[in-house]
Amino acid sequence: MVAEPISVWDYERLAEEKLDANALAYFAGGAGDEVTLRDNLAAFERRKLRPRMLVDVSSVTTATTVLDTDVSMPVLIAPLAFQRMAHPDGERATARAAASAGTILCLSSAATRSPREVHEACEAKGTRWFQVYVFSDRALTEGLIDEAVECGFGALVLTVDVPYLGRRERDLRIDFRLPEELEPYAERLKGFDATLSWRDLEWLAGYGLPVVVKGLLTAEDARLACEHGAAAVVVSNHGGRQLDGVQASIDALPEVVEAVDGRAEVLLDGGVRRGTDALKALALGARAVLIGRAMLWGLAVNGERGVVHVLELLRAEIELGLALLGCSSPSEVTRAHVT
Ligand SMILES: Cc1cc2nc3c(=O)[nH]c(=O)nc-3n(C[C@H](O)[C@H](O)[C@H](O)COP(=O)(O)O)c2cc1C
Repeated sequence: MVAEPISVWDYERLAEEKLDANALAYFAGGAGDEVTLRDNLAAFERRKLRPRMLVDVSSVTTATTVLDTDVSMPVLIAPLAFQRMAHPDGERATARAAASAGTILCLSSAATRSPREVHEACEAKGTRWFQVYVFSDRALTEGLIDEAVECGFGALVLTVDVPYLGRRERDLRIDFRLPEELEPYAERLKGFDATLSWRDLEWLAGYGLPVVVKGLLTAEDARLACEHGAAAVVVSNHGGRQLDGVQASIDALPEVVEAVDGRAEVLLDGGVRRGTDALKALALGARAVLIGRAMLWGLAVNGERGVVHVLELLRAEIELGLALLGCSSPSEVTRAHVT
């Protein structure tokens, strides 16, 4: 039992107590044997930080920019489906929390609130990106993108690792179902456009917003993303929910950074639970990280306030970590700061 949560792990334990078995299976689970799910965490543990001493760290900032947008910390909120299953306020709570913490929210194509509802919930504060799944129903896909563009979302994040949903055995064992009131949203996930190719990136760029490619793990794909005009890429294995047995995101990061070679910003998600995880990613060349489940546990436990608290815990951990590493800002973290 945890009284006052003081870390993401505390939030995870409290969320496990609070969520019903159906929701917990969906949120926590991964694909297959969950090797990649576990390795996302283990790989962060394997990497060691290399701090420098006797550097003046009397003034430290966690602020940085991502695609020219100011953020209070190098931590963004990953797109996560069905957030009303974690808390009745769902995506509206998450979006308000991101805005008040000064960071960017990625709204999922499988959100249980529309881009307009989320935009209105934030009263014009904060920056939101829209995560695009290309459904076989193109009209549905385009309708969602149009709405996000009209509501001033700042980028389109194309998720490229889901031509089909991964096989998540926790869901199968429990016969996972969305609560009745959210069932209409599940319809969307019945058909993804598995014909999607690199050419579709150019279609998406036609909306006039920066395009972020989320879900690649190799130098080859990173090069293709750059050649097709991606402004940023997210090194991600979908939190271990798609192809089990792929590399941990942090292990795939170096080859992607090298292949991109400064042509786009590189972001990472998967297994981030601590500020020091974010610092390891920065040291290996990421501009920022995204948090999925860490944010979700905060949402489940305490709605908007829970998400704000998770973000503040991570920000404080990054601030202290930067100082102890001998850096006064994220931009001072270099390859030499990690093994
Ligand atoms: C419950 C859940 C739902 C997700 N839904 C989406 C989604 O709708 N779109 C998407 O691009 N990624 C989705 N993801 C993947 C996340 O964006 C992100 O890649 C992943 O959660 C990062 O790993 P982490 O949970 O260890 O932080 C989902 C992940 C989880 C755990």
